[in-house]
Amino acid sequence: MVKKICCIGAGYVGGPTMAVIAKNCPHLSIEVVDINQKRIDSWNSSNINNLPVFEPGLGEIIEKVRGVNLSFSSDVEKSIRSADMIFISVNTPIKKNGVGAGETSDLRWVESCARQINEIAEGHTIVVEKSTLPVKTAQTIKDILFSSNPHNNSDRSFSVLSNPEFLAEGTAIIDLEKPDRVLIGGDDKDAMEVLKKIYMNWVPKEKIILTNLWSSELSKLSANAFLAQRISSINSISAICEATGANINEVANAVGKDSRIGEKFLKAGPGFGGSCFKKDILNLVYLAKYYGLYEVADFWRNVVEINLWQQERIYQEIVKRLFGNLADKKIAILGFAFKENTNDTRESPAISICNNLINEGAYLSIHDEKVSESTIRKDLKMDEFNTNNVKIEDKNNWDFEPNIYKTMVNADAVILLTQWSAYKNLEWEKVSRIVKNPFWVFDTRSILVCKEIKKYGLNIWQLGNGDND
Ligand code: NAD
Ligand code: UGA
Repeated sequence: MVKKICCIGAGYVGGPTMAVIAKNCPHLSIEVVDINQKRIDSWNSSNINNLPVFEPGLGEIIEKVRGVNLSFSSDVEKSIRSADMIFISVNTPIKKNGVGAGETSDLRWVESCARQINEIAEGHTIVVEKSTLPVKTAQTIKDILFSSNPHNNSDRSFSVLSNPEFLAEGTAIIDLEKPDRVLIGGDDKDAMEVLKKIYMNWVPKEKIILTNLWSSELSKLSANAFLAQRISSINSISAICEATGANINEVANAVGKDSRIGEKFLKAGPGFGGSCFKKDILNLVYLAKYYGLYEVADFWRNVVEINLWQQERIYQEIVKRLFGNLADKKIAILGFAFKENTNDTRESPAISICNNLINEGAYLSIHDEKVSESTIRKDLKMDEFNTNNVKIEDKNNWDFEPNIYKTMVNADAVILLTQWSAYKNLEWEKVSRIVKNPFWVFDTRSILVCKEIKKYGLNIWQLGNGDND
């Protein structure tokens, strides 16, 4: 019977997932561990606003279960030793160098977890892949776990399961509390039943799917690829709308009403961001190529290509409308997170768009509801698009502005990049009094009411709007 759970990795998945398990399973004792002491300290912070992950509803759950049956620690070894079940929930970014660079996942963190478990675990341990992994990674984990270990004489045995996570950031708690499905892949029926029973504390039995290991690993990559593909599809149509006079919101509505297609994930925008879509599709591309399926690889690679093109064409549209010259122009940026209701900026379209604008000589005043100034500084400095190799912060060409309206004082343009609700109903009359003339509004999420903006003599370009001037 499982009594103690250890989750390795206190990130966007590990923290919220274990919080929800702890809330629904008071009989289990759960510890989330991480090598990043700063992150652990934030999870343990007495100020609930200092949690390292911003997720609506997360703080309330943490307040209830932390110190009761959920704890956060950097003592990874101790936690592994006493656990009956270990979730591996560490980062799996794209490999930067060597074989498969730019496509397959860098498994160094997963492998180091497996080695540590092999070294330390005692008794029977169920090891659960929670991270999203290339197909067949479970075999690597098994090979490491089942290899002999001269340093550990205790009686040990392992079962390896795949249990990918489908939560989306910003809605993580709802997604975890009421998942569309829970997927458990494995070949050890007993271990699968044990994990299934844990979920059955709050997830209806019929929503728990059991498959073999490889189906489970591949289903996760496929689900993300399908979702991302819908975004690239609608974004490609947004460009056709602008060229033909059609409107992307009207088209998406009409298309989505077909019950076979469905309404979700048809919102055009500046391209998908987030740490996973690009990485998981590229993993699929790598897998297809590995098995000689080059046409399949090309099909999925194009989903990523359209995504990059969407960001590039938005940037070019902005430059064109600002007379081809951004030197000494001030541009307000509304939103830096890759989507609303999260403080995560990984792969955010804002990074490449902002860097391109800075490289053109623009001065940016950046606002976001939850992203911190230090995160933005890190993102802008690191970005590969800064082709001139200019140390951006030294040039003093952007600032972080906590007040939305102040970003626009004496500005030549504003670009709405993230769909935060605070940006939807701005007082455009007030804006018209503080900005330069002519002034452009670039709405890359297609959520603003053009009429309201034009009323005050402001120009607007809206993504997918065939009525743009
Ligand atoms: P993250 O970067 O936020 O967190 C990972 C954590 O693991 C980090 O804090 C890191 O310090 C820690 N870590 C790495 N190696 C460690 C080790 N050996 N021992 C202890 N701690 C270690 O990542 P994330 O966003 O939580 O994603 C984790 C995995 O879940 C990835 O595979 C990702 O693809 C997948 N996933 C993410 C999401 C999401 O919305 N972010 C959703 C579903 C699945
Ligand atoms: C996505 C999936 O939705 C989750 O199911 C999955 O678990 C997760 O990836 C993962 O594996 O990491 P996430 O990236 O957090 O979740 O957020 P999404 O809501 O999927 O949004 C991703 C990006 O697509 C955002 O930049 C968002 O703005 C964009 N998007 C989304 C659109 O442009 N249009 C849409 O209609 C939907």
